[in-house]
Amino acid sequence: MEETLFLKREEVKDINNYDFPALKKALKMKQEDVIVEVKRSTLKGRGGAGFPTGLKWELAFKEAADKKYLICNGDEGEPGTFKDRYLLEESPLKVLEGILIAAYAIGADEGYIYIRGEYAKPIRVFSRVIEEAREKGILGENIFGSGFNFDLYLVKGAGAYVCGDETSLINSIEGKRGRSRIKPPYPVEKGLFDKPTVVNNVETLASAAEIINQGADRYLSLGTEKSRGTKLVCLSGDIRNPGIYELEFGQATLREIIDDFGGGLKNGSGLKFVVPGGISTSILLEDELDIPYTYEDLDAAGSSLGSGAVIVVGEDHDLIDLMLNVSRFFMDETCGTCFPCREGNRQIYHMLKWKKNGFTAKERQLIKDIGKTIHLAARCGLGQTSLNFISSVLDKFEDELMVRGDINVEG
Ligand SMILES: Cc1cc2nc3c(=O)[nH]c(=O)nc-3n(C[C@H](O)[C@H](O)[C@H](O)COP(=O)(O)O)c2cc1C
Ligand code: SF4
Repeated sequence: MEETLFLKREEVKDINNYDFPALKKALKMKQEDVIVEVKRSTLKGRGGAGFPTGLKWELAFKEAADKKYLICNGDEGEPGTFKDRYLLEESPLKVLEGILIAAYAIGADEGYIYIRGEYAKPIRVFSRVIEEAREKGILGENIFGSGFNFDLYLVKGAGAYVCGDETSLINSIEGKRGRSRIKPPYPVEKGLFDKPTVVNNVETLASAAEIINQGADRYLSLGTEKSRGTKLVCLSGDIRNPGIYELEFGQATLREIIDDFGGGLKNGSGLKFVVPGGISTSILLEDELDIPYTYEDLDAAGSSLGSGAVIVVGEDHDLIDLMLNVSRFFMDETCGTCFPCREGNRQIYHMLKWKKNGFTAKERQLIKDIGKTIHLAARCGLGQTSLNFISSVLDKFEDELMVRGDINVEG
């Protein structure tokens, strides 16, 4: 099966050999027309929430303010996700081009790129790109003689998953503790230093640059009615060919992605389940994989496309070990602001730790009830999605997880 290349088409890394075609085209257009083109493409944000990019830009554009900011979110903390690292290393100029186009469209003259602290190579590559772009006048004043001024600064993350959340990330750039803000106000109204701010994912901005370059019509010709274009899928886990694949939405089913792109499970192992969108999403079983890879089909299957991280889990893994691993992650990564997220995730971790022999129906219900409470009370997406994986494993492997032995909740 062939990869459809929309985003990975050209990967020029030398700034002297890159002409910034999309940026030059955008700078000749009115800001409103750039926004209309991106809106027409129906591009959805690739950071996980899938918010329409053109609409976000329009909201920020319409805000009256003496200063606006553009932030590129390269925190990429969702386990199993490594597409932004790929783009920052292999297509940094396209990412820069997307940042400049978005900034021009909304009227920002200053921006930040926030890169996960562990990403040493992307940080090195992108720092050099910023320096070279300044030297060549692609950052700074009167870019390509258009009258558009913009400068960009790189901020390294310090290792907190919650700082990928746009409001925590804004706090972190401001030098404050990385924890989520209450919304509204949304960043497009009151973001960095209380100014209108657009936060977009790395892949979103690179896609926007290609949409301006190749045109919204080309983008609209790819994918399905509700999922246009292509997506970078991060394939990992117990498969033969892990890696990044650019797929046209609807072109392949999840099973085909695993078998044809991923080469099937390694070591002849059978499949236990698939996590289709990173560990914040619900699992799918073997008999649920014959669905096209689109936003709408994954939603209908009770999961979500999330960040594009497809994690394949072979039959030999212990379910409680897997749940403990995920639970530990959320217990460690909660920012602690909301009591149910902080204490609930901790309680669930300890229940899983004590219940190595399985669960009674009452215990399973208790975990799910705590999960519901976290979901209802959570200020941000971390808490809201922290139980998706565990709840879905408990539901789908009910028989396997039935208690073996008479162990009470206190362990
Ligand atoms: C806990 C948490 C972590 C997140 N991590 C990331 C991340 O690493 N990268 C990202 O682009 N978006 C992440 N997001 C989503 C952002 O809040 C935001 O929606 C996104 O950066 C907007 O860009 P987009 O519209 O281009 O998707 C995260 C959200 C939450 C709640
Ligand atoms: S839901 Fe969790 S991570 Fe999000 S703000 Fe509340 S405590 Fe922090």
